[in-house]
Amino acid sequence: MQSWQTLCFSNELPESESRGFTLNGEEASPLAVVVVRKKGQVYAYRNLCPHAFIPLEWVPNEFLSFDKSLIQCANHGALFTIEEGLCVSGPCSGQSLIRLETEETGGKIRIRSA
Ligand code: FES
Repeated sequence: MQSWQTLCFSNELPESESRGFTLNGEEASPLAVVVVRKKGQVYAYRNLCPHAFIPLEWVPNEFLSFDKSLIQCANHGALFTIEEGLCVSGPCSGQSLIRLETEETGGKIRIRSA
C-alpha cells in the first residue's frame, strides 16, 4: 500500500539545492532518496546510481554538479538531468535514475512511498 511521507518543510529545500533522506516504509530495507529544487519545482529520485547501484553522494546532501545544473554521481562522475533523471554523461549514459512522486502542500514537501 502506498502512502505519503513528509520529507521536510518547503523552506528547508532552497532553489538549486539538494537533500538526501532515508525513508523507513513498509519495505524490508530503508529507501534512500534525493530531492532537488529547480525553478521552484521539486524533483525526487531514488538515491541509486544506475551504473553500479550504489548511492550517488560522498558528502551528505551534495548531489549537484559544480554549477548546480545537473545531478552528479560522486563515484564515477555520471551526470543526470534534474528534470528527467536521464544520464547525459558518464558510464551509464542513456540510463535514468528512478523517479519518485512528490507534492508540495501546506509548506511541506511530501513523497509517495511504498
Ligand atoms: S556509480 Fe555512479 S557513475 Fe559509477
